[in-house]
This record gives sequence, structure tokens and C-alpha cells, in this order.
Amino acid sequence: PVKVSKICCIGAGYVGGPTCAVIALKCPHIQVTIVDLNKDRIDAWNSPDFALPIYEPGLVEVVRQARGRNLFFSTDVDKGIKEADLIFVSVNTPTKKSGVGAGFAADLKYVELATRRIAEVATSSKIVVEKSTVPCRTAESMRTILEANSKPNCRFDILSNPEFLAEGTAISDLFSPDRVLIGSLQTQEGIDACQSLKQVYANWVPEERILTVGLWSSELSKLAANAMLAQRISSVNALSAICEATGANIDEVAHAIGYDSRIGPKFLKASVGFGGSCFQKDILNLVYLSESLHLPEVAAYWRQVVEMNEYQKRRFSKRVVDTLFNTITGKRIAVLGFAFKADTGDTRESAAITLIRDFQSEKALVNVYDPKVPHEQIWLDLEEASPQVPLDTIKKQVTICKSAIEACKDAEAVVIATEWKEFKEIDWEAVYASMNKPAFVFDGRLIIDAEKLRKIGFKVTTIGRPSNNQD
Ligand code: NAD
Ligand code: UDX
Repeated sequence: PVKVSKICCIGAGYVGGPTCAVIALKCPHIQVTIVDLNKDRIDAWNSPDFALPIYEPGLVEVVRQARGRNLFFSTDVDKGIKEADLIFVSVNTPTKKSGVGAGFAADLKYVELATRRIAEVATSSKIVVEKSTVPCRTAESMRTILEANSKPNCRFDILSNPEFLAEGTAISDLFSPDRVLIGSLQTQEGIDACQSLKQVYANWVPEERILTVGLWSSELSKLAANAMLAQRISSVNALSAICEATGANIDEVAHAIGYDSRIGPKFLKASVGFGGSCFQKDILNLVYLSESLHLPEVAAYWRQVVEMNEYQKRRFSKRVVDTLFNTITGKRIAVLGFAFKADTGDTRESAAITLIRDFQSEKALVNVYDPKVPHEQIWLDLEEASPQVPLDTIKKQVTICKSAIEACKDAEAVVIATEWKEFKEIDWEAVYASMNKPAFVFDGRLIIDAEKLRKIGFKVTTIGRPSNNQD
């Protein structure tokens, strides 16, 4: 197997950036260059004051140690490709918006463009690693493109190495992953390439955690893992609806079922709905794959996980309207949190976007506060969510605030959309004093002490608990 000494990562996003920064940190003998077409992003990665393009706890420290030593960020994609012996393709694979498979299939144009670029500029053999999440058998298309366009004496070996990090905990996930998965063709060359990548991870990941499998299993495992994780949340959210109707408490139910060692306690938190760039996209991708394989029952099974999530978001905004005496027209609602989960500034598919859009269409006034999401991003997301509404109109209805306290002032209701730690530590007495009465709190994340807030005077509504204002 080739001993890897130069790595290039195409795509400096939420995955490529942290993943390859950690590789550089843990492998000082390997030169790692992360390239991207987006100059602003690369400039931010290179910024002298470490104002990185993404917020991720612990990331700045990693970049601070490795940048300029053996970690480089550049827009010179071709140079990065030429120099490297191993190339990660870590570009975005969003859901297709038009054409065949629109709304379900993954858009592979960025993967294909990156692959074609590799074929075009490479002058020596490369190990090409799919890091992006892709449909099963994408490696085959990549190989066809590479082989059809390569120069003599250039060999390309393709590996699948899906990334399992979660945003908000990316650095600790990368430091001690549950597993690293590497898929390769089971030919001698494929197995050798797999060993080369395994040696990179073996610099810090215990060998028994590095799983080597066939290419197609590796590609499918990524979709399968996300589908099963999202399914857990949709299952618990479906149960939360039953709890609200019966008087059971979803936290108690989740705790009780999670005690079964076969089920386990993690990832059973009822919520206003899962968000993030992966779950919905990857399940829809699996649905599309199932349909393409003429497996409609399988497709319907997974599709229901996404439908349940849409239902959960709808159900929550309806509950807000119902509780506020069936109208929120002209009422001020404070939405705390805009990111799709805590400890990230990422808003892709965030439930908060759907909630605010629903409140806007009910003609409410919305105050929103998030500790990490840039204001321009909030406007972009709200504009995209209501394409028929001009931004000026949106800006008349929505105000972005600088703190939770400021957002809650003169509001009729507070809606907790993201589980930021600081929302657990809010001075609720002060918030109560500044709000219109009756003052309502809607906890979409199960983070507040409902009893304590009721004692202050709030009317509290919690996901997965009945609405009679007592537990
Ligand atoms: P992202 O949008 O943050 O980053 C992708 C980057 O690739 C962008 O900066 C874009 O400019 C760049 N790019 C696109 N085409 C390019 C090209 N031809 N040449 C150079 N640069 C190019 O996306 P992400 O969140 O990092 O996700 C990347 C992949 O990883 C996706 O397939 C995603 O499904 C998968 N994934 C994401 C996560 C996550 O938590 N975000 C976790 C696991 C897997
Ligand atoms: C997910 C997978 O966890 C990760 O392995 C994969 O690589 C990428 O997709 P991510 O989307 O970054 O990671 O975050 P995750 O922690 O999985 O949360 C996804 C969504 O589910 C968030 O909106 C989160 O708030 C929600 N969630 C999570 C719940 O509602 N309840 C839970 O118990 C856990």
C-alpha cells in the first residue's frame, strides 16, 4: 500500500473543514490542503483572527495548532489535486430541485464536477475517497469518469469513507469516533488503497474501530445510519403526540424505554422536529433509491419518517395558535433559537424556519434570537421559506434581537426552538415582568423546568405533555 504523505480535500464545508483539520492535527507528517471554489469560505478559513466560516466547539483550537504547519486552505483546486496522493471529495450533495428525482434524489453535480477535475489535472496515480454522502454505487460512476478521462500511467483507486460526525460535537466525534468506515473494491488494488487510508486514521483511532467493508456496503451504511437515527426521533415524536393526548410524559416514556439495553438511552429526545442538512436529505435519497429498485413498500416505510417530522412541526405551530386563543394575528412571539440544534450556527432544515414561516402566515410579529446564527443567514432562510413574500415585508414582521431577554420583551409568547444551554439559564422572573400577560412559554426542546415557570406565573406548554398546564 502507498504511504500517504499529501492529502487534498475538495470542499471546505462543515465536513471537509473539521475532518481534514483533525487529520492534519493528528498526522503532523502528512501535508493536508483543503481546497474550495468559494473564495470567501477559504479566506475565512485563512483569516488571521481565526474568524472561521463555521462555528464548531474546539475547531478554532485545532486550526490554530495545525494551520500553516501542515494544514493549508486554498482556492487552487488544481494544484491541490496534482500534489496529493490521496484526495477526499467532500462537496455538497443536496436534494435535487428539478429534473428526474426532484425533491428526492441527491444532486451529484458537484461530485461529478470534482471527479472530472481530478481526471483532467492529475498527472500521477491517486486514491480518490468519497467523503460526501452519496447514493449506493456512486463510486462506480466516479470510476467510469476517472478511467475514461485519465492520462497514461495514472491509476485511480476509489474508496468510500462516509463521515459520521454530528455538528456541534464534530471535533470530539472526530477525535474519538465510534467507528471509521472504509469501503473498497475487494480487488488487491482496492484492498491496498483501503490499507493506505486505514494507516492515516490509525494515527489516532484504535484499529478495532476502523471497519473495512465492500464499497457498496459502505455507501449504503451511511444512508442507513442516518435513516435509523432519524427514525428514532420520528418514533419518539410520534409518541409525544400520544403523550399530549393522554397525560403521559414523553421524557418519562423515553427514559423508561431507553433503559432497555437493546434500545439504549441516547437520541430519544422529543423535539419540535429534526433539522440539519443530513437526515431529511439522506432519507429522501434512500426513498428514491428504493423506488428506483422497484421496492415501493421499502420507499413508503422510510418516507414516513420524514412525513412524521413534517407533522411534528405543523402540530407544534398549531398548538401555539390554539393555545393563544386561536389567533396570533398582531401578537408578538419570541422565538429562541434559529440553528437546527445547539452548538452550531448551521440553519439548514432548521425547524425554527418552518415555525417562523407559519407564524408569519398567521400575521404574527416575530422576535428571533440565536447566539450563533449570522443575521444575514436568518434573512436568507426566511426569504427562501416564503418566496412569494418580499424581504421588506418579512422585515416588517420579523425582528432579529441581540439577546433572549430583548426578544421576549412585550411578547405574548416565548417559543423555544433550539436547545442552547443559555436558554436553560434565562432569568425567567425578569422575562415574565417584561412580557404581556397572560405570558406563554412553549418548550419545543424539553429544556425548561415547567413547574418553576408556572410558579412565576407563566402558562407553559411542553412537547409531549398535555396542555392542561399541570404535569
Ligand atoms: P457544505 O456545503 O458545507 O460544503 C461543501 C463545500 O464544497 C462548499 O464549500 C462548496 O463550495 C464546495 N464545492 C462544491 N463543489 C466543489 C468543487 N467542484 N470544487 C471545489 N469545491 C467545491 O457541505 P457539508 O455539510 O460539508 O457536506 C458535505 C458532504 O458531507 C455532503 O455530502 C453531506 O451529505 C455529507 N455529510 C455532512 C455532514 C454534516 O453534518 N454537515 C455529516 C456527514 C456527512
Ligand atoms: C446527523 C448524524 O447524527 C451524524 O452522524 C451524521 O454524520 C450527520 O447527520 P447532525 O444532523 O449534525 O448529525 O446532528 P444530530 O445531532 O444528529 O441532530 C439532528 C437533528 O435531530 C437536530 O435537529 C436535533 O436537534 C434533532 N434531535 C437529535 C432530536 O430532535 N432529538 C434527539 O434525541 C437527537
